[in-house]
Amino acid sequence: MKRLVNSIILLSVAFGAQASFADECSVKVEAGDALSYSLASIEIPASCTDAVIEFKHTGNLPAAVMGHNWVLAKTSDLQAIQNDGNAAGAAGGYLKSGDARVVAATEIIGGGESTSVTFATDALKSGDAYSFFCTVMSHSVVMKGSISLKG
Ligand code: CO
Repeated sequence: MKRLVNSIILLSVAFGAQASFADECSVKVEAGDALSYSLASIEIPASCTDAVIEFKHTGNLPAAVMGHNWVLAKTSDLQAIQNDGNAAGAAGGYLKSGDARVVAATEIIGGGESTSVTFATDALKSGDAYSFFCTVMSHSVVMKGSISLKG
């Protein structure tokens, strides 16, 4: 019995450690039928090699009406990426094809949908400011936040 209890404790420790590692490198971001994200800023532990953004649209409107994406880039590139995204339009997913300024981007989702994107944290260079934003129909005018590494 003691041996079984020890095994259970070991299992709990192992799973607990794994869960907390995954948690700290994974960020849940939501958006609904308004032009805002659930987070104004995101801090990712510098110890994370990769970061995962789990993006969920909690609204009811379809992507064609109130679609959102989650795009990561240098703050200084935001406006140019948005301008090119506008030119790409809905057919181009509101992003220029192969835009090298984009560090990471999700697909566009509508109400009830979820998606995720993973990126290497070393893409965020120290000394540069980075933002996350939605390029759908110029949402980035108000739908944006800051993202940085901490520690
Ligand atoms: Co949006």
